Amino acid sequence: MAEFVKMTGIDKAFSGNQVLKDVSFDVLPGEVHALMGENGAGKSTLIKVLTGIHPRDGGTIEVRGKEVTFSNPKEAERAGIVVIHQELNIIPHLTVAENMFLGKEMTIGKTGILRKKDMYNQTLENLKRLGVTNIDPNETAGNLSVGRQQMVEIARAVSTNAEMIIMDEPTAALTDREIDSLFDVVESLRKQNVSIVYISHRMEEIFKICDRITVLRDGEYVGTERIADTDFEAVVKMMVGRELGERFPARTSEVGETIFEVKGLSRDGWFDDIDFHVKQGEILGVAGLMGAGRTEIMEAIFGAAKKKKGQVILNGKPLNIKHPQDAIRAGIGFITEDRKDEGLVLHLSIRENIALTNMKAISGKGYISSKKEVNLIDDLIERLHVRTTGREQEVKSLSGGNQQKVVIAKWLGIEPRVLILDEPTRGVDVGAKKEIYNIMNELTEQGVAIIMVSSELPEILGVSDRIMVIHEGKVARFLDREEADQEKIMQAATGGE
Ligand SMILES: Nc1ncnc2c1ncn2[C@@H]1O[C@H](COP(=O)(O)OP(=O)(O)OP(=O)(O)O)[C@@H](O)[C@H]1O
Ligand SMILES: [Mg+2]
Repeated sequence: MAEFVKMTGIDKAFSGNQVLKDVSFDVLPGEVHALMGENGAGKSTLIKVLTGIHPRDGGTIEVRGKEVTFSNPKEAERAGIVVIHQELNIIPHLTVAENMFLGKEMTIGKTGILRKKDMYNQTLENLKRLGVTNIDPNETAGNLSVGRQQMVEIARAVSTNAEMIIMDEPTAALTDREIDSLFDVVESLRKQNVSIVYISHRMEEIFKICDRITVLRDGEYVGTERIADTDFEAVVKMMVGRELGERFPARTSEVGETIFEVKGLSRDGWFDDIDFHVKQGEILGVAGLMGAGRTEIMEAIFGAAKKKKGQVILNGKPLNIKHPQDAIRAGIGFITEDRKDEGLVLHLSIRENIALTNMKAISGKGYISSKKEVNLIDDLIERLHVRTTGREQEVKSLSGGNQQKVVIAKWLGIEPRVLILDEPTRGVDVGAKKEIYNIMNELTEQGVAIIMVSSELPEILGVSDRIMVIHEGKVARFLDREEADQEKIMQAATGGE
């Protein structure tokens, strides 16, 4: 079968930093082709070279057997290639329908008068095709959860009738149910002979829906395999160049006294009467469906959400947290799920981003980077394997997964006593995931209490000492590590007995 897209010998450097070296990649009509590799391996860059966001330094691109060079994504779209980017492209102050029709608004003839009703209905229709019925096209997009914004982007791409859709980590922010409906969509697109390029760090997904897989390592092409002919271990080895061993390192810390308590935490319409505690050296996993209120609960604890009642107690003393600064000063760290909006200042360097949290925690005065601090930052970069040209690199130009590592690094710097992690490994590659689990283990060995919100059940089961399941803003169940399994968690998370 002739390739739909064929990229050969692609080279790309950013100011002397070679990020793609002689990379080949081809996609057949109607296949789902996984593009994998560690954070910073060059996946997103390859896609951006294909679609004309970045000019290439060398190599050729063929579409339907004809050599092409797109100078921008619009041209690629006209040739039938659409990308759903890792960084969401939703415009927050526009409505869902306005986002759906951005740049291709429906008007009455050439009058410029918008056919609002039609766009509203078509938006409903596009979302329904994905099995999404709970998003109002008139809602301001910025008010939607990250997962729902993602669904809007996917619906938009699917509605363009593209012949090839590239999904760069589409499921990172989706619930299990949303992922299932996305997979249904992928399946039906495949039947319509649409090609899908699928980028994800979730290995299970790759084996579930992909036909072939291409792996990049360090900007170089490693190989292409048929999914049927390979397995989990082999793919990991292609990606990291060595065996990785156990996916979840054994928990080793000793669990001590209760250090952190939350009592009667409520916010009207969001969550109600939340009671829980965490012990020194313990990891409390927080499971639940997306939208169950987990993030909102954590934000309220941390002083980042507005109204609340209830108590937050550290070392037996009630805290008066009105603002995140109060929480940080008390020794509470919070790694947010949304790195773009809350976690990082994108135009600042890695060093400045890490220093920022520490500055607030320490003084609030000017920040002078001493030798000690620079060492701390270099140490964190090293431990988390942040792929960077150095601590002065702008966070904006890091790969998605490496940005996530900087968010984590920044909170490790404050030496918290209680650390809240919201989806800590989202978008992070297998090797770095394990590194993050190792760091969580080390922290708990030093007595830090960890609260980890995660939508990945294997992760919840793999690293938690205890599990709290949230259902519709209420604590549905606590489970000990020994008794917990996927089924019990899902049952509690969906409101079953
Ligand atoms: N605009 C840019 N300027 C400078 N360097 C860049 C730019 N975009 C990407 N890079 C660098 O290119 C390398 C590859 O990044 P890319 O985003 O392609 O990785 P990725 O494989 O998509 O990783 P991830 O899984 O984390 O998303 C990284 O080292 C990154 O820092
Ligand atoms: Mg990427």
